[in-house]
Amino acid sequence: MGRAAVLTGIGSTVPEQVVTNDMLAARMDTSDEWIRSRTGIRERRRVGVGTATSDLAVEAGRRALKSAGVESVDALVLATTTPDHPCPATAPTVASGLGLGPIPAFDVAAVCSGFLYAMATAAGLISLGTADRVLVVGAEAFTTIIDPDDRNTAPIFGDGAGAVVLTAGHQSDRGALLAFDLGADGDLADLIVVPAGGSRQRTSGVEPGPTDHFMKMQGRTVFVNAVNRMTESSRTVLRRTGWDPGSVDWLVGHQANVRILHAVADQLDLPGERAFVNVDSVGNTAAASIPLALDDAARAGRLAPGDRVVLTAFGGGATWGAITLEWPDLAAL
Ligand code: UT7
Repeated sequence: MGRAAVLTGIGSTVPEQVVTNDMLAARMDTSDEWIRSRTGIRERRRVGVGTATSDLAVEAGRRALKSAGVESVDALVLATTTPDHPCPATAPTVASGLGLGPIPAFDVAAVCSGFLYAMATAAGLISLGTADRVLVVGAEAFTTIIDPDDRNTAPIFGDGAGAVVLTAGHQSDRGALLAFDLGADGDLADLIVVPAGGSRQRTSGVEPGPTDHFMKMQGRTVFVNAVNRMTESSRTVLRRTGWDPGSVDWLVGHQANVRILHAVADQLDLPGERAFVNVDSVGNTAAASIPLALDDAARAGRLAPGDRVVLTAFGGGATWGAITLEWPDLAAL
């Protein structure tokens, strides 16, 4: 049996501050009814001033290490769209905050697909023998790049972090990551974009417009692409794993919109109940979304050892991906 990356620990955290739909409706032209019916979101969490992505990542990482029953790892991969600073990467700060020593630590940027990209990267380190154990974190202070007055994005996004420990094992172990599919299409880069702050429109040089440091999203086009790409990517990993779509116990998709999750389940001929949903309480947390969903599902006892799980995401870039695994017997704390 080949060497494989096996999921052995999980943890997550969300900031305390709750933002309800009614709070948003008091500020902009929207309503609780519209947000619930178009997205499935009831509330989301927001970081307070002074809390950065690394703070959330450290807490989620601490919980994942505890769940795995370990104190050290050989590498840390952080998926985020909202690093503490444009330079340097945030992962070394997280490793330092966790007292992990001088291990390799780096960021992966693939927006809402970032966690799946980070998992694939970590699995590659493990397959090569470069690492025996890797902490993979998805963390976002996403509301820091959201225009609080933009009704196209403010109701959708929230903050949080989730993390998993991947450990070298065998393909036959429960929790082994079985198949991967990743993709990207830069022709769609404008669908989800923060125009300013990078080298194309720097803070110095081109004068940014008043909202150019905030994320813009072409929601309707993203919606259609998300359903198509998440469905296709899920089909690809199911084929590679040799699983019949109907045998899947849980579709844990990127929590962008409950309508997207149900549409993907429908395309895969899965009953809607097999699409795990926690977007109602946390909103879209981008790279943190899948590990947060997995941890919520595990802590609620909804994921049982041996369950067949498909993870899938679509996000800015455009990027997408999917991974299959059988849920392991682990401590969700
Ligand atoms: O995380 C990366 C991936 N991101 C996603 O997957 C997000 C994908 N997109 C979506 O989830 C949805 O497109 C949204 C939730 C963002 C928007 O829902 P929609 O059903 O696609 O709405 P729409 O943009 O087509 O707008 C429908 C109507 C429009 O009014 P008219 O033109 O029909 O009169 C909008 O002006 O709803 C209006 N509208 C709103 N009304 C109240 C748009 N936003 C709001 C709002 N409150 N917040």
